[in-house]
Amino acid sequence: MRILVTGGAGFLGSHLVDALAKGKSNKIAIFDNLHRGRLENINQHRNNKNITFVEGDIRNPIDLKKIGNIDFVYHLAAQSNVIGSVSTPGYAFSTNVVGTLNVLKFASEKKVKRFIFSSSREVYGNPEYLPVDESHPLNPINMYGITKLCGETLCNAFSKNKNLNLTILRIANSYGSRDRDRAIPVFLENAKKNKDLTLFGGKQVLDFICIEDVINAMIKISNEDKFIGEIINIGTGTGTSIQDLAKSIIKLTHSKSKIIRKESRHFDVEKFVAKSNKIRLTTTRLIDGLKKTIEYY
Ligand SMILES: NC(=O)c1ccc[n+]([C@@H]2O[C@H](COP(=O)([O-])OP(=O)(O)OC[C@H]3O[C@@H](n4cnc5c(N)ncnc54)[C@H](O)[C@@H]3O)[C@@H](O)[C@H]2O)c1
Repeated sequence: MRILVTGGAGFLGSHLVDALAKGKSNKIAIFDNLHRGRLENINQHRNNKNITFVEGDIRNPIDLKKIGNIDFVYHLAAQSNVIGSVSTPGYAFSTNVVGTLNVLKFASEKKVKRFIFSSSREVYGNPEYLPVDESHPLNPINMYGITKLCGETLCNAFSKNKNLNLTILRIANSYGSRDRDRAIPVFLENAKKNKDLTLFGGKQVLDFICIEDVINAMIKISNEDKFIGEIINIGTGTGTSIQDLAKSIIKLTHSKSKIIRKESRHFDVEKFVAKSNKIRLTTTRLIDGLKKTIEYY
C-alpha cells in the first residue's frame, strides 16, 4: 500500500505515521510544509526506506505532484487550531478549504482506494444536546469550524461526483506527546514551572481523547470498507470541565501553580461530549492518559 499522510510531521500525523510504519509492506509519503509540524516528530523514520518526507504546501497543486503514485490518503494537513484560525483566517481558508480541494483533486486523479479526512467536533459549534451524535445540526462558531465544514462539503462532493471512497472523522480534543499550544500542553508546561494556569470562563466542558485512542480508531476505520461514505465522531463520550482538568494537572504534577480566571472568549465552544452511532471505541481514562503525557513532558 502506498500511503500519503498530509500533515504527517504534525501531532496526529506523526503518531499515525508511527502506527502505519509497523506495516512492513506500507510505503508512506509524509507531506508537510512545516508550518506547525516539526522534523523531530518524524526523525525516528529517517533511515526507513519505505518512508519519504516531501516538503510542500497543499495550497500549491504543483507541490503535490512531487508525491508520485499513491493508493490511500489520510488528509490531516490543516491550520489546526482555533486561535490560529481566528488570528489568520486567510491562511485557515486557503489551507483548510482550497488546500483540501487540491488534495481531493490529486487523490481523485490518482484513483486512490480510500480517503480519510480529519474534520473536527468544531463543525457542531455549541451543541443543542449532549452527547453529540453525527446527526446533530452543524453550526460552527469560529473560522476553524467553518473551514472544516467547508472541507467536509468538498469531501462529500468528491464522494458523490468522483466516486472517491471517503470517510470523514469528527475528532474531539486530542492530547498526548508532541502536542503543543493547546490547553493540555500549555497547562503542563506552566504547571512544571509553577506558573498560573489561565482559564477563559472556566465552565467549558470538553471531551479529551488520548492520541493512542485516536490513532487506533483511524486505523480501524481505514481497514474496514463498511466505514466508506460515513461521518464518524471520534471521542470518549466523557465530558470534563476545563477547571477540573486544570486541577487534575496541578495535583498530578505536584505543582504550586494557581488557577486564574479571565473573561470567556467568543470563539470557544462551551461544551462538547461525543457520541458515535457508527463505531464503539475503547478509550483510555483521562487520568491515565494525563499520567502518560506528564511522563513525556
Ligand atoms: N489535535 C486535535 O485535537 C484535533 C481535533 C480535531 C481535528 N483535528 C484535525 O486533525 C488534523 C491534525 O491535527 P494536529 O493536531 O496534528 O495539528 P498539527 O498542527 O500538529 O498538524 C497539522 C500539520 O499540517 C501541516 N500544515 C499546515 N498547513 C499546511 C499546508 N498549507 N500545506 C502542508 N502542510 C500544512 C502543519 O505543518 C502540521 O504539521 C488537522 O486536520 C486538525 O484540524 C485535530
